[in-house]
Amino acid sequence: MKKRESFLLKGHICYSNEQGKLLVKPDSYAVCREGICQGVFKEIPEAFADLPIRDTGDCLVIPGLTDLHTHAPQYPFRGLGMDLELLDWLNIHTFPEEARYKDAEYAQRAYAMYVEDLKQSAVTRAVIFATLHVEATEILMDLLESSGLETYVGKVNMDRNGGTELQEESAQTSARETRRWLKEIEGSYIHTRPILTPRFIPSCSDSLMKELKKIQEEYHLPLQSHLSENPQEVAWVKELCPNAASYSDAYFQAGLFGGSEPAIMAHCIWVDDEEIALMKQQGIYVAHCPQSNANLASGIAPIRKFLEKGVRVGLGSDMAAGSTPSILRAMADAVQCSKLRWRYVDPVAKPLTFAEVFYMGTLGGGSFFGKVGSFLPGYAFDALILDDSSLRQPRRLELLERLERFIYLGDDRNIAGKYINGVPVF
Ligand code: GUN
Ligand code: FE
Repeated sequence: MKKRESFLLKGHICYSNEQGKLLVKPDSYAVCREGICQGVFKEIPEAFADLPIRDTGDCLVIPGLTDLHTHAPQYPFRGLGMDLELLDWLNIHTFPEEARYKDAEYAQRAYAMYVEDLKQSAVTRAVIFATLHVEATEILMDLLESSGLETYVGKVNMDRNGGTELQEESAQTSARETRRWLKEIEGSYIHTRPILTPRFIPSCSDSLMKELKKIQEEYHLPLQSHLSENPQEVAWVKELCPNAASYSDAYFQAGLFGGSEPAIMAHCIWVDDEEIALMKQQGIYVAHCPQSNANLASGIAPIRKFLEKGVRVGLGSDMAAGSTPSILRAMADAVQCSKLRWRYVDPVAKPLTFAEVFYMGTLGGGSFFGKVGSFLPGYAFDALILDDSSLRQPRRLELLERLERFIYLGDDRNIAGKYINGVPVF
């Protein structure tokens, strides 16, 4: 393990301390002691006077970003099939591509490209779907472990509706492969953790869900899946689960809807008030994926309502349904989509503010990993140094304006440095 360093990071420091709040501390010091943030100070406190100073000049310093929902094997076809809806997109593009990961050599090549790009991006932590293949999932985990990123990775479970190429033979096979994966990776990683990953209800039989529940009880693993993304998908789940009151209830009845083990549900667009109450009760994390939702015409998630009801929300790229893995872009898209929802769907749902989406991309999603996503004392020291000097501007902007503009105009080329747990990634 690389040494967790101790130092003072000097710059214009911007971070959230609670939902909707954005703090801006010009020319200040974020203190990192052995990978843990000790707070942000205008003057160097006596206790930290011996630590070395790393001066970022006129750069902005923000917490690292968390991608709460993405698909590593879909990297090769991002930007394709964006004129389709979910179920056609899955059958035409997604499942055939994911089937290629049966071939370990292909997985190695494709995943190496994906991980290298993720390392260069503003993302410090991610929760990732692999494919149903154990060997390829382990290849991905090996690459991620050496990248310095902090991740959860799921070997996908699917025992129905994947066609001949992308489906496990039975619930028992799927469970057996999941156990084999968990055994094989035991003790192998520090930064790369397993997460249970039933793809979505149409991919997982009732017996498979029962098997996964047993595995969860044995291993105490969190879970990720998809929920209520597309109207046809929701109707299909109703047919597949006639005894469930809702799509959420189908997971809940299986004992796989949060509660004692945390769960991330991607999308959550077509959920009703009862489901939202259940989500709140079970501590569900919503992975809001606005670009994906626009690309596949899935709909616009009721994020304002989630915030009002106290449901936790982070941002997801959902690559490749979202064509970019950028969480900066996800912040901008979240604002944009919320405005369309307000204009066309729900005139009382006030659009999201910049501070609200900034929170979602940092502390909101980061909290899935524990004390992550802020520069509050005790938080993991994950930081990005943003150099916006090439984003030309004839007058001087306020720091908050610079940050907001960066979210819209900045990209990987403007990231001058990145720390995870106080360790420089580049
Ligand atoms: N639902 C089930 N699988 C997928 C997937 O790979 N991407 C998206 N966007 N939705 C899904
Ligand atoms: Fe997804």
